[in-house]
Amino acid sequence: MITALQADTNMIFKQLFDSESSTYSYLLADEQTGEALVIDSVLDGSEELLSLLDQLGLRLAIAIDTHTHADHITGMGSLREKTGCITMMGHQSQAHCLSKTFTHGEQINLGSIQLEVIYSPGHTDDSYSFYLASEGMLFSGDTLLIGGTGRTDFQNGDPGIQYDSLHRRILTLPDNTLLYPGHDYKGQSNSTLGAEKISNPRLQMPDRQAYKELMNSLALPNPKLMDIAVSANQACGKLAT
Ligand SMILES: [Fe+2]
Repeated sequence: MITALQADTNMIFKQLFDSESSTYSYLLADEQTGEALVIDSVLDGSEELLSLLDQLGLRLAIAIDTHTHADHITGMGSLREKTGCITMMGHQSQAHCLSKTFTHGEQINLGSIQLEVIYSPGHTDDSYSFYLASEGMLFSGDTLLIGGTGRTDFQNGDPGIQYDSLHRRILTLPDNTLLYPGHDYKGQSNSTLGAEKISNPRLQMPDRQAYKELMNSLALPNPKLMDIAVSANQACGKLAT
C-alpha cells in the first residue's frame, strides 16, 4: 500500500506499508534533482518500491534503516544491488554490509532534503530517529510509536535509556512535529508529538523508574521472524543459505 500524504514544492513524500509486519517505509525525494532516499525499506516491498521510483522518474541514492529490525527483513541489500544506492545505519550497528555509518548530530543530505540524525537508543542500542526540520517531520523508527513505544526486552534494549531518548531528545522537538513511526498495528499513519504527549500511555509515566517497571512487565512474545531477521539484517537483508 502506498500513500502520498503531502505534496511539497520541492519534496516528494510517500509512506509505504508492509502488511505482513505492519512496517512503514518512507520515500523522500528531491523533485529538482530526482534523487530519492528510503527509510526502513522491506525486502518483500523492494519490487513495489523500484516500480514506484521508476514511475516517478526518481533515482534511489540512499537507503537507511533506523535500527536492526527483528520483525522483517530489510530491503537495503537488494536495493543497493539493483540501484547502486548507498546503505547506511548508525555506527553502533553490527551490520557488516553498510556503505557508510552515521552518528548523533550529523546530517544526511540529499539535494534540498536535510535529515538530522538523532540517536535514540532504548528499543535497541542502534536505534536512531530522523528529523526533517524543513517539513516538521520526524521518522521515529521504533523509538516512539503512535500510542506506544518500541519494546525494550531484546537486542540490547533498555527501558531507562529509552525513557531518556524520549524525554531528552524526541519530545524536545516542537509539539506540532508530525510523527511518522516505524510501525503501526491499527491503521494509523501519523500523529504529532503534541498529541502523543497528551494521549500516549507510555508518555504518561511519572518518572524513569515507573517507565522501566512498566516496560519490564510487558512479557511480549518474540517476533515471528526474529531468528532469521536479525542475522539477515546484519547482512543488509541477505538470507543465510
Ligand atoms: Fe524494531
